[in-house]
Parts: sequence; C-alpha cells; structure tokens
Amino acid sequence: MARRILLLGPPGAGKGTQAALIANALHVPHISTGDMLRAAVVAGTDLGTQVESIMAAGELVSDRLVVAIVDERLAEEDARCGYLLDGFPRTLGQAEALNDSVVDAIGTVVLLDVDTEEVVKRLLKRAEEEGRADDNEETIRRRLEVYEADTAPLVAFYGAAVVAVDGTGTVDEVLSRIMITLAKS
Ligand code: AP5
Repeated sequence: MARRILLLGPPGAGKGTQAALIANALHVPHISTGDMLRAAVVAGTDLGTQVESIMAAGELVSDRLVVAIVDERLAEEDARCGYLLDGFPRTLGQAEALNDSVVDAIGTVVLLDVDTEEVVKRLLKRAEEEGRADDNEETIRRRLEVYEADTAPLVAFYGAAVVAVDGTGTVDEVLSRIMITLAKS
C-alpha cells in the first residue's frame, strides 16, 4: 500500500478529518500545513505574525514560507517511511518544489470530491461550532476561488497518480472508500 499520500480537495471536503484517520490507520505522520500555520499564529511566532491576515482573508501564504516549513517537517525521522500530506502542495510551484526536494515524493493522490454547496454548508456549520477565522461566507467563497485557480491544476500535474473518491456521506463511509482505494493503489 502506498505510504506517501496526498489528500487533495476543496476547503471543507474533509481532508483534515480523513487525514487524521488514515494516518492513524497507516501509522504515518499527518502533515497539515494549515494546522502548522494556525499553530504558528496561536504561538505568536514570526511566521504566525506574517501569515495571520493572509489566512484570515482566505489567500495563500507564499510558496517560499510554506515550502520551508514542509521541507523542515519532512526531514524529521518519523517521515522517513512515509507521510500523509494535507493542504500541501496547493500550487504548481509547491508541487515542483516538493518533487525537487524529495525523490518519489508522492505515491497516491486522493482527490476528495464534494460539491460547492455541501462544502459551504459544512464550513458555515463549523463556523458556528468552532469560530475559525476563515470560516465566514465571504472568505469561504474566496478560498474556493483560490482552490479552483491555484490548486485544482494539480490534478493534471499528478495525472495518473490521482484517484477521485466521493467525499459525501458519513465520515466512516468516506474513510472506507479511501482505504479501499489505497489498498488497490
Ligand atoms: P487549510 O487548513 O488547509 O484549510 P482548507 O484547505 O481550507 O481546508 P479545511 O480545513 O477548511 O477543510 P478540510 O478539507 O480539511 O475539511 P475538514 O476535515 O476540516 O488552510 C487554511 C489556510 O492556511 C489557507 O486558506 C491558506 O491561507 C493557508 N495555507 C494552508 N496550507 C497552505 C499552503 N500549502 N500554501 C499556502 N497557504 C496555505 O472538514 C470541514 C468541516 O466539515 C469540519 O467541520 C468537519 O467536521 C466536517 N466534515 C468532514 N467530513 C464530513 C462529512 N463526511 N460529512 C459532514 N461533515 C463533514
């Protein structure tokens, strides 16, 4: 079973939810650039100060900053035998940088397929429950535009490595589809 996995999909597709479960099942680290950047904001580091307003606006942090934190994370011991990337790469520049820094960087790309109205509904629900700074309707729509413009082209970039999985239904139903897909890849 492939151990270097990328989860791709629009905001609210369930990448973070599924990544935590898959990483646990496969015993690989779950590497989420969104989580790392939010942690930097909460900790008030220089990085956090630089990215806070960019994230709150639903724009992408620069490739330079994100590639640097991912390179550092992938150099850690626990990533030697595999990893699950969530939210990275999300530009062609990031994908090329990953290919340059890691041989055979990605084995399987799981594309979580969920339509726009469903992801907006999920994120507005999370806004009520958790109050994430970028979960208001205006910023959600912007994040979706950014996804279409900058991240969706990665599907063509990764070509035959991409498998689309229906991301609707319960969390367990989606997980089961992903695990079946990974077992075949
Ligand atoms: P990031 O944290 O990566 O956010 P995102 O891609 O917008 O994704 P979300 O976390 O909103 O959604 P998700 O697909 O992970 O779904 P989730 O499981 O959470 O990035 C945030 C920001 O950081 C970016 O906008 C950017 O500014 C910056 N950034 C991060 N990485 C970057 C990079 N590489 N380059 C540049 N900038 C970067 O689920 C969403 C909700 O739905 C949850 O409430 C969940 O409980 C619910 N849910 C999940 N599954 C289901 C289901 N099956 N049915 C019903 N509800 C469900």
